[in-house]
Amino acid sequence: MTEHKLKTSIAILGCGDVGSTLAYTLILNPICTEVILVDPKKELLEAQVRDLGDATYRGNTGTKVRAGNHKDAGQADIIVITAGAKQKPGESRLSLLSRNLHILSSIFTAMQPISLHAILLLVANPVDILTYFARKLSGLPEAQVLGTGTSLDSARLRGILAQKAEVAPQSIDAYVLGEHGDSQFIAWSSITIGTSPLALALPAKLTAEFKANIAAHTRGAASAIIAAKGCTAYGIGQIAASICKYILFDSRSVRPLSFYQPELGCCLSMPAVIGRKGIVRAMPVELDATEKAELETCAKGLRAVIEGAQKELAA
Ligand code: 2OP
Repeated sequence: MTEHKLKTSIAILGCGDVGSTLAYTLILNPICTEVILVDPKKELLEAQVRDLGDATYRGNTGTKVRAGNHKDAGQADIIVITAGAKQKPGESRLSLLSRNLHILSSIFTAMQPISLHAILLLVANPVDILTYFARKLSGLPEAQVLGTGTSLDSARLRGILAQKAEVAPQSIDAYVLGEHGDSQFIAWSSITIGTSPLALALPAKLTAEFKANIAAHTRGAASAIIAAKGCTAYGIGQIAASICKYILFDSRSVRPLSFYQPELGCCLSMPAVIGRKGIVRAMPVELDATEKAELETCAKGLRAVIEGAQKELAA
């Protein structure tokens, strides 16, 4: 067996708050033999590798952490892109586009040639737009390019619904879909608690006001955290680590992930089966008329941003 087959490596581009938290999560819940950190800030990179290394000398992890370059990253099994500017308090994710699209473009240039088997996981924002361009910049097959999308928003929705319904979050199946951003929407009609549709599980509570409050809480969760601590990291770190696990273990989990939607002409989050080769297939979801309209609005907004960015990239 060649040496490569014995190794499973996850490369993380960007070792700031999110990238280092993801690396730490992957050490504590070992799923791969090697985590490769890549970052142009050499001092930070060295310090993160040493600090994370200190977490590997005891405990049950078999995962090694090392500094690498873009060429190393291009040959990893999973390439996670967290590199980019982060939102300042009050800033929207979309406002990061210009800066982060140029960073993304330079990363792909430096990584080439990228292993044809690599799975690309976008985390940096605006994640749906960056996922769209990563398909073109990487040259990888569609299914191998995905973004964390509304997986984190869906986790936040689960948490607040669990609180309101006084049940375990794990017993709630709830999806936020569309943009990981302001035009996201909650697929209320498909939420279940155990085997009960939400309308049956929470008959009295499910008013328009309740839904509006839950949607505002979910959509505003990140900005509340960013205002207080300057970033979010633990939630997205756990989400990204769980997606890496679904991939390496070929789990065939169904999750809301950002990937290319041919009929909408953009990348946004819809339910998908995820496995070793990335997006195995989309999982159809029944949307009611309101949700269909929200999906259209979301896709229209994302297409407009893509068109603007294409002009900027071409300039
Ligand atoms: C989040 O939702 C900032 O997109 C990041 O936590």
